[in-house]
Parts: sequence; C-alpha cells; structure tokens
Amino acid sequence: IYEFNATNIDGDLVSLEKYRGNVVIITNVLAKMHAKYAERGLRILAFPSNQFGNQEPGNETQIKQFAQGYDAQFDMFSKIEVNGENAHPLWKWMKEQPNGKGTFGNIKWNFTKFLINREGQVVKRYGPLDDPSVRTKSFPPLPN
Ligand SMILES: *[C@@H]1O[C@H](CO)[C@@H](O)[C@H](O)[C@H]1NC(C)=O
Ligand SMILES: *[C@@H]1O[C@H](CO)[C@@H](O)[C@H](O)[C@H]1NC(C)=O
Ligand SMILES: *[C@@H]1O[C@H](CO)[C@@H](O)[C@H](O)[C@H]1NC(C)=O
Repeated sequence: IYEFNATNIDGDLVSLEKYRGNVVIITNVLAKMHAKYAERGLRILAFPSNQFGNQEPGNETQIKQFAQGYDAQFDMFSKIEVNGENAHPLWKWMKEQPNGKGTFGNIKWNFTKFLINREGQVVKRYGPLDDPSVRTKSFPPLPN
C-alpha cells in the first residue's frame, strides 16, 4: 500500500508511506474499533463511498462532522469509488491481491474491510458478514 497516495478528508494528498510499520485496516465505512488496538499500532483508514444505496451522500464537511460525533478512532479520507473504472487505484490494487479478492472481486456492500500487515501487504479481506468491528472480543490477533 505504501506506493499509493490518497486525498484525506481535509483535501490534502497523503502518501500511505506514513503507515509503514503499522497494522492497517482499510474500510469503506466508519468503523468503531477498540482503542487498545490503536495502542498496539493499528490504524484504521476510512474511505467513504457513495456507491452503496446512497448511504454517504454528504460532502466532505458533513462526513467529517458525522465522524467527529462518532468518537472517531480512524483517519478519514475523501469520498472515492471502490468499484468500476473510476475506483481509487489503492482499492483496485487491494482487490487484485491474492488475499484481497473475496468471493467476487467487487466490493459487495458497506462492511468490506482489508487488513494490511506491517509490510503493507493485504493479508485478509472481511466481507459484510464477517466484520471485525462488531466482534471486538474475537478480533483476530494482529499479524506480525
Ligand atoms: C504520490 O505522490 C508523490 C508526490 O506528489 C508522487 O511523486 C508519486 O508519484 C505519487 N504516487 C502515485 C502512485 O501516484
Ligand atoms: C457541504 O454541504 C453543506 C450543506 O449543503 C454546505 O453548507 C457546505 O458549504 C458544503 N461544504 C463543502 C466543502 O462543499
Ligand atoms: C450497511 O448496510 C446495512 C444494510 O443496508 C445497513 O443496515 C447499515 O446501516 C449500513 N451500515 C453503515 C455503517 O452504513
């Protein structure tokens, strides 16, 4: 992931190089995660997407306000597309990785998350029914 850039919610271009050495979860929704994982080096990157039933129709300002009210434990990025021709290059790449393909390739619904190890590789893709944020007690051990 370190080769990719993305625009954060404030409009600044961010190199994902800044996450080198961290375990990262990249998600297209706002996810609640237990703070103890942040202390252990977990970073959550949230990319709002409006490709699923118009769930995040707001602009960046509105999304940011919403996230603040959510006790956000993650880094917010600008709205992107996750499927199709105009999908963000990071998301296109993650979906092509051996551990990132999922069942059908495309992002199925709002709960898709990619788990990135400390070397920047996709190690697991969580589907809509397999969500780490709603199973905090059984969240798997962080990869090395
Ligand atoms: C990311 O941004 C840097 C600095 O602007 C640029 O040199 C690099 O080519 C960009 N990488 C990609 C994959 O676009
Ligand atoms: C976002 O939308 C709100 C409400 O329509 C508006 O007040 C605000 O200026 C917009 N912000 C941006 C950055 O477009
Ligand atoms: C995800 O989609 C489900 C089914 O439509 C919906 O009930 C839920 O509120 C959505 N969650 C988020 C965070 O948008």
